[in-house]
Formats: sequence, structure tokens, C-alpha cells
Amino acid sequence: MSSSRTAASPSSIRAAWAAVGRGTWPYPRWIAHRGGGRLAPENTLAAMRVGAAHGYRMFEFDAKLSGDGTLVLMHDDTLDRTTSGRARVSARALGDMMKLDAGAWFSPEFAGEGIPTLWRVGTWLIANGLAGNIEIKPCPGREAETGAAVAIEAACLWQSEAVPPLLSSFSPEALEAARRCVPELPRALLLDTMVDDWLDRCRALDCVAIDVEHQLLTADFIAAAHAAGLKVLCYTMNDPERGTRLCEWGIDGLITDRIDELGKC
Ligand code: G3P
Ligand code: MG
Repeated sequence: MSSSRTAASPSSIRAAWAAVGRGTWPYPRWIAHRGGGRLAPENTLAAMRVGAAHGYRMFEFDAKLSGDGTLVLMHDDTLDRTTSGRARVSARALGDMMKLDAGAWFSPEFAGEGIPTLWRVGTWLIANGLAGNIEIKPCPGREAETGAAVAIEAACLWQSEAVPPLLSSFSPEALEAARRCVPELPRALLLDTMVDDWLDRCRALDCVAIDVEHQLLTADFIAAAHAAGLKVLCYTMNDPERGTRLCEWGIDGLITDRIDELGKC
């Protein structure tokens, strides 16, 4: 049996990844925060389904390691706020976490929703032609280990895909580990306070983008970042007027909770 499709070579895929932010920018401008913003339990597959149903094509989510070294989606260092469990994520094995409910805290409609692994979510995104922004969110002391694990797993998952996930983190150590393992995967440095040496920090990590708390942004900052060759993203941008302004200033990506209201510019 023959096929008319020719698989892209691993080297051409890696070249396509390395071009992101350096000639290509294959991502949509609007990105759903934690999968489905405020409309579904954060960091679940259900959230991403809700986001997709609202027309979103890219999803930000938080990834960290379980106690036994599997990457799962979870924002907090503990399971307490968003699941039926009570423990530190780094103290629980994947098998224990799989028994927990990650949807009922949000509403009965989502009861039974589980904690997804990065593998499951990556598979789902690829199967549906959707893009991902994996925020590397290490538990304290696991920064390099988590950054390396995310890069290696992402490279494996997306190995046949020309559009890679964007990796981001507040942790320079995590980004540096990701860079060492898979340099071609695009990276963004997250900042929750403005610092004078933002450009040096991005260059040291060979980042293609900077992802800033939106209230810190100005037209001059975006222009300076663009002049330096960086894309600019912001989080968590839930104000329509501010969103319009940021779009006028040429922002490249807006991460929002308000997936039902925003996403037009
Ligand atoms: O990735 C941007 C944004 O998600 C960072 O803040 O706390 O919602 O993960 P947080
Ligand atoms: Mg996040």
C-alpha cells in the first residue's frame, strides 16, 4: 500500500520549530487561560473543550511533576483548591492523583473530570489541530527537572508537527533546562513585575517572546521588544478596552479568562 503523503523529516520539523518567533509566528492572538478561562475547571480537558467551543485555537495551561515524575496539569503546588485531594502535588504518585475529582469544586456539571497528564492533553491538542502554551510551573526545588521533562515530552509529542507548543515560565532555571534539552522549542519568559534587564534575561535564555502581566505594558515597551526581535504576550487580560488598546499597540498574544467576551481584535 502506498501513500501520497510524505512525512516531514525530523530535521525539517526542528527547523520549523526554530523559526518560530524568528520569521514565523504560527499562533493565534487570543489564548484561553488555563484552558477555558472562567467557564470551566482550570487545567482540565473539559476546560479546553469549552475553550474550543468558544472558537479558541490556543490554550495556556500549567504543567508540573507528580511525585513519581509524570507531568500533570495543575496550577497550585497543592491539590487542595482544585481537586478532591489534600496534599502537595510533589507528594502524590500519578496513580493516586488519577482517582481525584478535578471538576466538582467548580460546579456539579463537571463532577468526575480528572487531572489530565500533559501527554493526554498534548495528544488531544494535536488530534484537533489546536495550539498549546505550556506554562512550566515547577514545584519549589524541581525547577530544572520540570523544565527538562516538559521539553523532552513536548518534543516527543509534537515530533511530527510543524507548529510546536510555546513553552513559558516565570522560572529562568526551568527555561534554561528546557533550552538545554530541546533548544528548538520556542520559549517565553514570564514576568509579573517589570525589571530593567528584561532584554538581557530573555537573551540569556534565548527566548523568542516575553509574556508580561498586562498592566505593566506600554506602547513603548512593546515597540522596544519588537525592535529587539521579541514577540510580546500578556496575561491575564480580561478588560475589553485594555485589550483593544494592546491590540492597537501590536501585541502578539493575549491570554484571557473571558473567552465568551473577548477575542475579536
Ligand atoms: O501563563 C500566564 C499566566 O497563566 C501566569 O499566571 O498564575 O495564571 O499561571 P498563572
Ligand atoms: Mg499559567
